[in-house]
Amino acid sequence: MNKLNLSILVAFSGILFWSFGPDTVETENADVKNWIAPASANKLKNPYKGSASATAKGKKLFKQMCAICHGNYGKGDGMAGASLTPRPTNFHIAKVQNQSDGAIFWKLTEGRAPMASYKTILTKEQRWQLVSFIRTFKK
Ligand code: HEC
Repeated sequence: MNKLNLSILVAFSGILFWSFGPDTVETENADVKNWIAPASANKLKNPYKGSASATAKGKKLFKQMCAICHGNYGKGDGMAGASLTPRPTNFHIAKVQNQSDGAIFWKLTEGRAPMASYKTILTKEQRWQLVSFIRTFKK
């Protein structure tokens, strides 16, 4: 590779890192090292708990918006997640399922880089439907 091509490549990787690199803004109130929702989140209750139709709607949303990173079966093995740090969470593990519905809701509402915040992208109802669906991975 000649010098010019190399410098173009270096500049381009810099731009890529700048636009997709880790976000340094830390989520308020959260333990950032080990992502833990604030205790107040535990008070939030899923208004659609036990509703089969909410779970079905959550499943549809999950396939459309989340599976690309979290995998179709929620194992954290989606195609777009392979190169992310940290890797998308596997929803089957106890650490996820032992949390309250409210904590899971809070996390997908707030997001944490490289995952977006879904606060404005999805309605509250849709976010609870996703929580209901994520619960189906509980053993
Ligand atoms: C761009 C890839 C990407 C997409 C798309 C994505 N996520 Fe994530 N998600 C992540 C990553 C990476 C983490 C781990 C973040 C961390 O631990 O700091 C994560 C973590 C989570 C967590 C927290 C798990 C825990 O208990 O710590 C939840 C809940 C979650 N995602 C739900 C969703 C839902 C629901 C959608 C779709 C609406 C979604 N994610 C879409 C990448 C993604």
